[in-house]
Amino acid sequence: MILVLDFGSQYNQLITRRIREFGVYSELHSHRLTMDEIKAMNPKGIILSGGPHSVYDENSFRCDEGIFDLDIPILGICYGMQLMTLHFGGNVQRAKDREYGKVDIQLKEDPLLFRGTPKTQTVWMSHGDKVIEPPADFHIDATSSSTPVAAISHKERSLFGVQFHPEVRNTEYGNDLLKQFVFEACGCAGDWTMENFIEQEVGKIQEKVGDRKVLCALSGGVDSSVVAALIHKAIGDQLTCIFVDHGLLRKDEGDLVMETFRDGFHMNIIRVNAQDRFLSKLKGVSDPEQKRKIIGNEFIYVFDDEAEKLKDIDFLAQGTLYTDIVESGTETAQTIKSHHNVGGLPEDMQFELLEPLNTLFKDEVRALGLELGVPEDIVWRQPFPGPGLGIRVLGEVTEEKVEIVRESDAILREEIKLAGLEKDIWQYFTVLPDIRSVGVMGDARTYDYTIGIRAVTSIDGMTSDWARIPWEVLEKISTRIVNEVEHINRVVYDITSKPPATIEWE
Ligand code: XMP
Repeated sequence: MILVLDFGSQYNQLITRRIREFGVYSELHSHRLTMDEIKAMNPKGIILSGGPHSVYDENSFRCDEGIFDLDIPILGICYGMQLMTLHFGGNVQRAKDREYGKVDIQLKEDPLLFRGTPKTQTVWMSHGDKVIEPPADFHIDATSSSTPVAAISHKERSLFGVQFHPEVRNTEYGNDLLKQFVFEACGCAGDWTMENFIEQEVGKIQEKVGDRKVLCALSGGVDSSVVAALIHKAIGDQLTCIFVDHGLLRKDEGDLVMETFRDGFHMNIIRVNAQDRFLSKLKGVSDPEQKRKIIGNEFIYVFDDEAEKLKDIDFLAQGTLYTDIVESGTETAQTIKSHHNVGGLPEDMQFELLEPLNTLFKDEVRALGLELGVPEDIVWRQPFPGPGLGIRVLGEVTEEKVEIVRESDAILREEIKLAGLEKDIWQYFTVLPDIRSVGVMGDARTYDYTIGIRAVTSIDGMTSDWARIPWEVLEKISTRIVNEVEHINRVVYDITSKPPATIEWE
C-alpha cells in the first residue's frame, strides 16, 4: 500500500488514482494521521501531496515528522518537497510570485525517478514558495531556468522531492516518475486487481457480519447495485434488499432491476410499488423544491414501513464511495464538499453501517460491478436524480405527464445508443415544460405539449456543456418522438451550458 498524505492540493486524489492504475493499492489520508496510525497501515511508501499553503504560514498543514525517521521511501510533491527540505535543513524561499503552467526541466546525471526518460522534459508547475537550496544530504536531480531546484533526492536513503506535479497529465513523464517511485524505490508488486479486491472484501464482510442480517436500499443505480452484488456474494440470503419503485423511474427500469437481481442473482428483494402513494402526495404541488422534499420524505417513510416488517436486521448497507469520504473527511478546507450518501435514509435507524465501496473511485466501482456480473446497462447507467422523472415533469406531476416523459426519454435513449454516442454524452434525457403550442398533423390543427431534449457533456456534473449531437440524430429523435408519443407536437433542444443553467430543469 502506498499512503498519500493530503496537504490540500486540488490534485491529491489524482495521485492515488494514478498509483491504483498501476495495480498498486493506494489510499489518501489526512496529514494529521498519527505515527501509530501510519505504522498500523504498514505502507511500502509515503507520498506527501502538494498544498495551497506556504510552509511558513502560521497554520500551515504539518505531518508527524517522525515519518522521516522511518525506513520507508518518501516522495514529496511541491509543498511536500518543501516540508521535507525544511525538515532536513535546506532552504525554502517565500514566494514573490506564483509559477503556474508548463516548464521545461533538465535532468542531472541519471536520477532514479527519471530513469529511462529524456534529459529535457516538460512538467507542470503550480507553486508559490520554492526550494532554493537542498539539504546537505540531498542531490539536485533536475533544474529549470525559473526553478533551479526542480527535483531532489537523498544521497543514501529513498527520499525524493519534486517541485512539479507528476500526477497531472501535463507533466510529460509524470506517470513514469510515479512508477519508478512505486516499483523501484518502494518495491511494490503491482498485483492489486479487482479479483483480489473482491476476495479481500468478501472475507471482511463475512467476518464483520457473521450470521447476522443486512438490509440494503437498492435503487438500480450503479453504487447500490454493486454494493448489493458484492454483499450478496459474501453472505447470500442474509442480505435483503428493498427496492422502492416510486413510479418516477425510466421505462422498464423497475423490471430490469428485478430481473437482474431477483432472477439473475437470486437475491431476496422486496419491490415496493408505491406509485400511487407518491402521486397522491404530489397532487397539486408545482414548486420544484417542495416536490423534491415530498419525494425524498416519502421514500424514507416507505422504506421505513418495509424495514419495520423485517426482523433481526443488524446492518444497513450503503454504496458510499471513496470520493464521498475524501471530499467530506479531510481537513483541507479548499476541497471540502458536503457528504452525499444514499438518498436520505432516516438518521435514527438503529443499524450498523456496512460500506464496502468506501475505498473505491467511481470507475473502480464500475469495474467491480462488471467483475461481479452486474449487467453493462446498470454498470454504465447515466446519473439519474433521486426524485426521478418527478423533476423532469415541470410543475404539477400527473400520471399522464410522467408517461410522456418516460416514452420520449426511451426513444431518446434508444437513438443515442444506436448512434453509438452513449459513452460520449454524460447525461441525456427529456423534460416536459408546462407549455402547449399550435401544430398541424395530417390536415388537423393540434394544440399539444412541447418536449425538451437535454444532453450534456461533463466530468462530474458540477459544470457541463451541451452535447453537440449530430443533426441527423436529432432529426430522427424529433421525428420519432412526435410520431410515437401522444400529445407531443414540438421538440426543442436545450443549448445552454451549466452555468448559467443547471443540468436538470428543476
Ligand atoms: P443540476 O441539475 O444541479 O444536476 O445541474 C447536477 C447532477 O445532479 C443530478 N441531480 C440529482 N441527483 N438527487 C440526485 O440524486 C437530486 O435531487 C438531484 N438533482 C440533480 C443531476 O441529474 C445531474 O447529474
